[in-house]
Amino acid sequence: MSRKNLFIGAAFALFPLTLVAQPKELVLYCSVGEEWCRAQSEAFSRETGINVLMTRKSSGETFAQIKAEQGQPRGDVWWGGTGDPHLQAAQEDLTQEYRSPSLSDVQDWALRQAETSGYRTVGIYAGALGFGYNSTLVTANPPACWADLLDARYADDIQVANPNSSGTSYTMLATMVQIMGENPAFDYLKKLNSNISQYTKSGSAPIRAAATGETAIGIVFMHDAVAQAVGGAPIMTVAPCEGTGYEVGSMSIIKGGPNPEAAKLWYDWALSAKAQEIGATAKSYQVPSNKNAVTPPEAPKLSDVKLIDYDFAKYGSSEVRTALLARWDAEIGTLGK
Ligand code: F6P
Repeated sequence: MSRKNLFIGAAFALFPLTLVAQPKELVLYCSVGEEWCRAQSEAFSRETGINVLMTRKSSGETFAQIKAEQGQPRGDVWWGGTGDPHLQAAQEDLTQEYRSPSLSDVQDWALRQAETSGYRTVGIYAGALGFGYNSTLVTANPPACWADLLDARYADDIQVANPNSSGTSYTMLATMVQIMGENPAFDYLKKLNSNISQYTKSGSAPIRAAATGETAIGIVFMHDAVAQAVGGAPIMTVAPCEGTGYEVGSMSIIKGGPNPEAAKLWYDWALSAKAQEIGATAKSYQVPSNKNAVTPPEAPKLSDVKLIDYDFAKYGSSEVRTALLARWDAEIGTLGK
């Protein structure tokens, strides 16, 4: 080969490398609130120049979509949503192992998700389950415990999501099973059904309905109730007296997605303190997983809540989550609303 050809050959060999190092696009499946999904996507695009194609869906819905697309994955990153379906996705080989250099920056509870899943998911925030009520509709003896929600005076005045679509509602189902045992938990949910007016698709919809007075009580993550109160709605947030479960909101890279390099860039960035502090600017008051991220002052203090020792490995396993949802469909879903 002549020296000139050698030079041209070398230039062509190097040029594609620069192209590969500059991903252009990221397909993001987002399972937090719409406003936060948008703020996070826009911030990443601004910082990296990568165009984010974002779709917002609830946790269970996103899990189902990734599973349906397994033969031909279309998404790159699943960001946000409760940890249980992320763990199930890891077990079912829908997501990919990735050991981000930023893993050393996260709290133990976030790292535990990574360890449990063989590094296929990681915690990005935490939040406790509870409920909120509209204080103009519930004036005397407001509910303080899970047991209070069975009171006949709340007939058709409580909303909660469907646990198939919503991670919030699956967290409630798994929490009840862990607090009471499985059969008593289903008895509780059957009685509660008499007071439920609607099983919504999204986990936070019930408290948005309570904020407008459409329902009196919404069973949601406490931070979602706080967000309505901060926004000026007459919503009081309750940490149930018997104790309650919590979520480790998680993030995973979808196996075989179209933009694997962009996926890793998002993943590393999303674990940084700066990226995690975007939540509060979008009225999202979860506790961030990065040790150096500022926890929004509005975030419910988890140390003040009686938290159960939620068994994420068990309730995020394919066997247990599938079986509990099937039982919910058979025993609660069929009761009708
Ligand atoms: O609204 C935010 C949030 O509560 C997150 O903390 C949580 O991970 C997610 O929504 C759950 O949403 P869904 O119940 O709709 O899956």
